[in-house]
Amino acid sequence: VTVEDYGSSIFGRLQSLFKKAIEDAFPGLDVPLLLAETPNPQFGDYQCNSAMPIAAKLKANKINKRPGDVAKEIQAKLPTKIDFVEKIDVMPAGFINIFLNTDYLRRQISLLASEGVKLPKLTRKRVLVDFSSPNIAKEMHVGHLRSTIIGDSICRLFEAVGFDVLRVNHIGDWGTQFGMLIAHLYDRFPDFLKKLPDISDLQAFYKESKKRFDEDEQFKKRAYEYVVKLQSHDGDIVKAWNTICDVSKKYNQIVYNYLDIKIKDVGESFYQDKMIELVKWVKTNKPDMLREEDGRQIMFPTGCDIPLTVVKSDGGFTYDTSDLAALKYRMLEEKCDWNIYVVDSGQSLHLETVYAAGRDFGWYDESIQRVEHVAFGLVLGDDKKKFKTRSGETVRLLDLLSEGVKRATEKLIEKGRETAMSEEQLVAARDAVAFGCVKYADLSHTRTQDYVFSFDRMLEDRGNTAVYLLYAYTRIQSIFEKDEVKNVDLVKYIASTPTLPLDHPGEFKLAKQLLKLSDCVLLVLDSLMLHQMCDYVYQLATLFHDFYNECYVIENKEGGIKTICPYASSRFV
Ligand code: ARG
Repeated sequence: VTVEDYGSSIFGRLQSLFKKAIEDAFPGLDVPLLLAETPNPQFGDYQCNSAMPIAAKLKANKINKRPGDVAKEIQAKLPTKIDFVEKIDVMPAGFINIFLNTDYLRRQISLLASEGVKLPKLTRKRVLVDFSSPNIAKEMHVGHLRSTIIGDSICRLFEAVGFDVLRVNHIGDWGTQFGMLIAHLYDRFPDFLKKLPDISDLQAFYKESKKRFDEDEQFKKRAYEYVVKLQSHDGDIVKAWNTICDVSKKYNQIVYNYLDIKIKDVGESFYQDKMIELVKWVKTNKPDMLREEDGRQIMFPTGCDIPLTVVKSDGGFTYDTSDLAALKYRMLEEKCDWNIYVVDSGQSLHLETVYAAGRDFGWYDESIQRVEHVAFGLVLGDDKKKFKTRSGETVRLLDLLSEGVKRATEKLIEKGRETAMSEEQLVAARDAVAFGCVKYADLSHTRTQDYVFSFDRMLEDRGNTAVYLLYAYTRIQSIFEKDEVKNVDLVKYIASTPTLPLDHPGEFKLAKQLLKLSDCVLLVLDSLMLHQMCDYVYQLATLFHDFYNECYVIENKEGGIKTICPYASSRFV
């Protein structure tokens, strides 16, 4: 990430200050910066531990310096006055302890309250996120659910920092399988041209046609004929293809609506002509890269052991061809700075090979562009095996989400919440809990690992769950619903209270966590690991609950309202 301005990121600013001081004190030593938060407040807020590895490196170069002296030399190169730092202590053992300035934090918190959240200013990037991307005629499964949730969250993050985001659904809507699907459609729903057939179970439809394809020679022949006709854009056959796509998309759209996902279809069919052009392009510009094997045109990109099949022996194209065409289009036509693929880890080899080909072809420059596979692990059942229904079928997403809604309703009723809410509020709460839980459970796990899907766990109101966060959010909202608070003009109030107290440890900790949002955003923009953001909000919610319990917000113990403003909490419980 090119950062023009770290905004309010304290950690980011500390990092650049220390990097510079170390480089000034010990030029060209090339030791990675060790800077972290301090677990024990006695030793400040942040700690720089670079002096030890620097001393070791110097020793290897036959220069003997004690870590404590190295630390002093680093300190000497730091600016004498840093607005947000109270003091910097150097320990004899070489630890550099950094204490933040409380007045600075108070001012920042006041600004946050009066001006709202400000994220770091970044150079605007054009970013494409390929996510969800199910295959037509095969229903979306939990793997696509992960891609949908992670991809959408990444898009939201990019949008929040002002990037130009292309949300792309690279659906599998092209290929020879459509021949058999079309043939089966003609037989099962002969009047499909007149009305959209009611194929409630597309998965079964797919299986039926596959069975016929494998067993019936006559059917197989027809299927091949339809493929040829589809490729030559025969009117009725294109309509049949469209019908199958529409049925599939209609189903997927219900899932997207539930989860509030916006995404645009730019699937494999979009690349029909582009695949033809691609092959021409390679033959003209990089003919040496292609080699013929058993009638196929294949290529081994630099450093890859498994080849890409660019043209099949029957002249047709493959998943490899469509991904090559898509990469070329995204980098050269769409001119993306970042091209992010949110796809399960199982496709890592395929994608890495495609990226290597893109580099060989000179379609992008790794030093300034980012082409990246955001990989994720499997969703597992309670038995720690791939998530399946009891009868061993893949779980339909709609069934899964409906189950979430049912469980959330039960939970709300169990807690007696339905009595305090209107019908409308109950529906809103139910959906927030159900879909929030499913999303958050996915995001809060390290995405590269497998995770066990458990409604029981995700609906817990303790621990790192959506319910716990929603609880904090509701508590905050309910403060603002009190008449005494509703009628206060916050901006005016802050203007008249230049320094907020922050003198209770609960307040101080909460303030510091709030001011770390930019640090978190920068971190996640780089790693695209959303669990880091979940950790941040979880910590924030925990500190808020502590603050709420320890400090007066609007009520005192006797129940009378003492303080009319939520943050003017100078009296303690
Ligand atoms: N349709 C593929 C699948 O369901 C995922 C596509 C991912 N995107 C890509 N550009 N290959 O497995």
